[in-house]
Formats: sequence, C-alpha cells, structure tokens
Amino acid sequence: MPVIFHEDSRIFHLTNDYVSYLIRIMENDQPEHLYYGKKLHDSDGFARFHEEDIRSHMAIALPEPSSLSLQYARQEYPVYGSGDFKMPACSVLQENGSRVMCFTYESHRIVSGKPSLKGLPATYTESGDEAETLELTLRDRLTGTVLMLSYTIFRDYPAIARHAEFRQEGPETVMLERALSACVEFPDMDYELLQLSGAWGRERYIHTRPLEMGLQGIHSLTGSGSSHEHNPFIALKRPETTETTGEAYGFSLVYSGNFLAEVEVSTFDAPRVLMGINPVNFTWRLESGESFVTPECVLVYSDRGLNGMSQAYHALYRKRLAKGYWRDKARPILLNSWEGAYFDFDEEKILQMAREARDVGVELFVLDDGWFGNRNNDWSGLGDWCCNMEKLPSGIDGLSRKIEDMGIKFGLWFEMEMINKDSDLSRAHPDWLIAAPGRFESPSRHQHILDFSRPEVVNYIGDLVSDLLRKSRISYIKWDMNRYMTEPYSAGLSASRQGEVMHRHILGMYSLYERLTTEFPEILFESCAGGGARFDPGMLYYAPQAWCSDDTDGWERVKIQYGTSMVYPTVSMGSHVSAVPNHQVRRITPLATRANTAYFGTFGYELVLGKMPEEELAEVRKQIAFMKKYRSLIQIDGTFYRLLNPFKSNEGGWITVSPDKKEAVAGFYQRLNKVNGSFLRFKLAGLDSDTAYSVRFNVCGEEKGYTAYGDELMQAGIVVDRHNLDRIGGDFASIVYEIAAV
Ligand code: GLA
Repeated sequence: MPVIFHEDSRIFHLTNDYVSYLIRIMENDQPEHLYYGKKLHDSDGFARFHEEDIRSHMAIALPEPSSLSLQYARQEYPVYGSGDFKMPACSVLQENGSRVMCFTYESHRIVSGKPSLKGLPATYTESGDEAETLELTLRDRLTGTVLMLSYTIFRDYPAIARHAEFRQEGPETVMLERALSACVEFPDMDYELLQLSGAWGRERYIHTRPLEMGLQGIHSLTGSGSSHEHNPFIALKRPETTETTGEAYGFSLVYSGNFLAEVEVSTFDAPRVLMGINPVNFTWRLESGESFVTPECVLVYSDRGLNGMSQAYHALYRKRLAKGYWRDKARPILLNSWEGAYFDFDEEKILQMAREARDVGVELFVLDDGWFGNRNNDWSGLGDWCCNMEKLPSGIDGLSRKIEDMGIKFGLWFEMEMINKDSDLSRAHPDWLIAAPGRFESPSRHQHILDFSRPEVVNYIGDLVSDLLRKSRISYIKWDMNRYMTEPYSAGLSASRQGEVMHRHILGMYSLYERLTTEFPEILFESCAGGGARFDPGMLYYAPQAWCSDDTDGWERVKIQYGTSMVYPTVSMGSHVSAVPNHQVRRITPLATRANTAYFGTFGYELVLGKMPEEELAEVRKQIAFMKKYRSLIQIDGTFYRLLNPFKSNEGGWITVSPDKKEAVAGFYQRLNKVNGSFLRFKLAGLDSDTAYSVRFNVCGEEKGYTAYGDELMQAGIVVDRHNLDRIGGDFASIVYEIAAV
C-alpha cells in the first residue's frame, strides 16, 4: 500500500521503493509535515518527528497548557493568520476584511490512480495500480471554505505530485490572494539551491548558491510564459552532492504562467520550500459553490545525485506527463525555414527548400513565420491566420499537398495568442487585446497579446486554425509566443476579477491546446516562445517537444541542453543544425559539432541545404542516417546521464544508455582548443561493468575504435586524443562515441 494510514497517531505514510513522505494531523487538527526523503520502514512511532518546546514569544495554537506552536511545527500548507510568521502557502480575504483563516482536518480518502486536474495539465496514470492518491479535506469552520490537499505517490518513480483545491461551501464570497501548490519543510539547512536561469538565447543555465537564513528564490511575472529568465523548477542539493552521488530534492511546477519558487530558512535553520502561482497581481474570487484548483507541483527525491533526480523527471515526464500519439514515437527529422529564409520567400523557394530537404533524407518540412496575412516583416499580420496568396498562390492546402506529394510531411508555424495592431483582426476587434484602460499599451516586437481570458477570443482563433488544419495536410505545428504580458487587464472581466486575468489567459491557452490536440491527435505540436521562454512541464503535457532556444550555435547549445536536461528529457528538446557563422553569436563551429549537439534532442536543420557544398551535403546525409539509427535509443528508450559540466569546464559531455545496457551513444564537446594541453579522459556512466563494448568514433571521416569493458569506460574513461580534436577543428571540436556490447 503506497499510502498507509496510522489511525491512532493520525499519520499518513506515503511510500514506495524509493521515498517516504509523512504527514501527521496535529492536536489542533492541522496537517503537519514530519518527513520527506529516502524510503523508511513503516513504524507506529513517527510522531517522534514532531518536536516542540515553548520559547519566548511563541504563540500557542491550542488553549494552554498546550505547547503546540505553529512557529516551529513544520506544516503541510501554512495559512496566513496564525502564530506561524514565515511566508504562507495561502492567504484568504473574507467579506469582513479579515485574513485570519484556519483549515482543520475534516476527512480524507485514499484512491487508486490519480484524478485529473480540471482545466490544467498534470501527470497522469494509465492504470489504478500505478499510483495512489491521498486527498486530505480540511475546512475553515467560520467561512465554510474547504481546502483539499492532494498527494499522488507513483509506484515506479521517486516522485510525489501535489496540488491544492479550494471550494467555497459557505455562503460568503472569499478572495484567494495567495494559493500556492505545495509547501515542504526540512529540518536542516545544509543545502544548496539550484535553479535554471538565463535570458533570451541563453536559457536554463545552471546556477547554485548555499541556503542562507531568510528568503531566497526565483519567480516569473512575465505572464504569457514561464519565461527565459527562470524555469519553474528548483532543487535543494547537499553541498557534496554530485551528478552521480548524494541527495537532491527537485520541485517542478506543471504550469506555464507566473510562478514563485521560494525557500525561506527560519532562524531555527529550517528551510520551507513554497511553490505555485506567483501571488503578485493574483487574486481569485470564490463565490459560494465555486472552486479553484492550483497547478501541480512534482516533487522528486534522489539519493543518486542530480542525474538520479533528472532521470526520474525524464521518465515520468516522458511517459506520464506528455501524452498522445507522439508520446512514445521517435520524432521526424525536420527542416525549418526560419534561419534559411526568414520572411523572404515565395512558393518556388519553399518548394525548392523542401525538395532539397527530401533529397538528403529529411522527413518533415516546416514553414515558419511569414506565410499568413500581410506578413512580410514582424510589424503586421499576427491574428490573420489565412494564407498570404501573393507569396503562396496555391494556399496552404495546395502547398501542403505539393510537399506531401514529394514524399515528405509538412508543418506550419503559428503564434495563436498574438496580434499586431496592423492586422484585420485588430481592426475588427480592437478591444480583444490585453490592455489597461487609459494606459500606454507597451508593444513588444510590434505585437500585443490577445485576451485569452475571454472564451470568445479563444474560440475565434480555434475556429480559424481548425478550419485551416482540416483543409490542409499538416503534420506538425510550431506554436510560438513572442512577447511577455504587460498592462494585464481584460475588458471581459469585472473589476473584482482583474486579479484573475493572467491565470485565466494561461487557462485559455491550455483550453485551445486541449481542443486542437483532441481534434487533431496526430499532429505533432512543438511549443516555442522566442526560443525557450515556454520550456515547462505545463507545455509538455500538450506539446511533447519545445524549441530550446533561438541560440543554435553548436557550443552554446551544449550548455543550454545540459541545463535543460536537469528536468526535461532529450526527446522534448527542439534542436537544429544551423548555418555558420551562427546567426546569434556569429561563431563558426564544425558542422559535425552542430549535429553532435543536436542529436541529443529532436534533431533537424535550419539552413539552406542548397547553399552547402557537395561534401557538406554528403556529411548531412550521414548525419541523418546516424540519427535515424539512434533516435529511438536517444529519444524514447535510453537513460540520459550528464557527464562533463560545460558550465564548470572547457568540456561538456553526456551519454544515453539503452535499458539493457547493450547500446549507448555518448557526446564529448570541447570549447576552446588548448596548446600543449593536459591529457583528457572522458568517463562514461550507466554501462555494465562486466560487459565488453566496442567503442567506435569518427575523426574527419576516418573510423576509429577499440573494445573495452564497461568498468574501464566508466572508471578509467575514454582517452581523448588531443590530436584528434586538432584534426576536427580545434575550437568547438566534438566526438560522438557509438558504444555496443560485443
Ligand atoms: C521566434 C522563434 C523562432 C522563429 C521566430 C519567427 O523567435 O523562436 O524560431 O519561429 O519567432 O518569428
């Protein structure tokens, strides 16, 4: 039984082969957090984890002589208005102006499997025995507001999914001012906080810092996406934790809007982790009979280092967050028109690019921005999702058929939530954009955000897009989002509901994804947001892959994909080989390195094949053949290990190993070449020590290799010959090793 209930002590023990999570209902009927970490034997004595001691200034939560104080009790869901003075998980404003609330235990139920979250993306189960869910129902006696805390423990993963639901069962209207998804409290502060932060073109770099007393954390207020700046993920790791050893706790929010991830360390050295929707500019009006569901927070515990944590997220998100037709399928190798053509194309040029792609073995041609409305640059056209017949006289339906007739699939770019003021849509519905009355409407990339908090707007765009999809042969959609939300205000909501706009926009976007993925289940969706501003678990539920970053440079991508892999599986990472000098950093990297990086993702090209000399085209053909051979291993079946950290050294490296450990592909990447440098070893992971493997690699067309046992490859490592790196090009040289049991 994954959820054990000790009736006498009122303790819930959520456990599987990996973790234990303990909750106690305290004497004052509020839920207390007792333990979270490596699996423990079940015991009826877990109440000893409750520690108490009256200290100066502490408020007591029950009539004296009780000594229960919420100031030190570790809580499951701290509520504002008690003797707990740290940041709360929720705050509720009542009709009389009070924010004093007290949710106490009313009942609980334990259900097999995992109920879904209404209107929100979430992890799921396919059969009842995959997980068990504890739902704790608490009630505020005065207002009748019910708070349900939900905990799902998965059988096969060291993961617990949490969320909260508020239901107003009393007569009055209450305002949620803060309604986070999860709170987890720890007994000691000997941790580092790890986060994935950056900016456009350098998303999800790994940053760590020691915990300090007081507040620390990250957040996003960008509204339309989880953001380039911070990913909705944090981890607490022990200072000594490495990629392969030691403890780490991950917190990942299944949400694409404003979020908060905060750690508050008390002056008793106890950290409280809070995660959920950012309370800034958030309020939710809850009238009698209404309910509000928070996004899901997925907790992962690892005692096998950061790789152990990441592998749990990869497996869970690959199998039980992503869904639908493409979930278990290797992804088509594509060519995207953007960096090759930008806005400058006509039908002939597109057909030519598609033909060239087909000829080298590409399987899907993607027409990016510029095909619709009056769209010849980024000043106009967004919102007018009808083909620009001047550029493409056969229309999208005709063009898509011509491309399919070539024997290659066709995909199309959209930016469904966006509008240019210079568009027919804006002229017809000037009030459909998000803007505050009487205030300046800040443009960004000359565009504005359609108000997706209004169902009629979502429906209008949904109808337009569905109609086009029904008429054409479209196998793939790149759904972009190229600006953040400013002046958040909806003309469709009353004054008392303006604090709901940003969350409602995200719900509207999710509802359109739900509609389109339901109506067109075989279309492969790739989410995108000016590169990687929407690389989050919420999007992964609908779109099983996401464009990692607009930075396509071969070395920059090693860092971006390395950081992204902290949470997200390789199969979710949109990664393309682009032209040199690279359009973002102007750097020249070897063609082999650009491919060697992109292999560890969905793989594709974003350049004009027709401009490449014949010897490069021959190399491209080989790259495509390589990816076709290994994509099931890399994307679907394999286990991914980070090996060499490119943020800490001149080298980066990783490996994907098949479940039976008989096959693996490893990538080694060097930043700058060294003169007379020291010797280099590349230590692998995940192989079987007692199996002999053939190790094959290619240096400028010359096949090299040898045979070695797994223990040698993992303990002593592969000797990387610097002369080979010189031959490959020196700076930004890389080698991919093909490893197979002999
Ligand atoms: C964003 C995307 C790019 C491309 C352009 C088109 O920047 O990240 O890949 O689609 O939009 O405008």
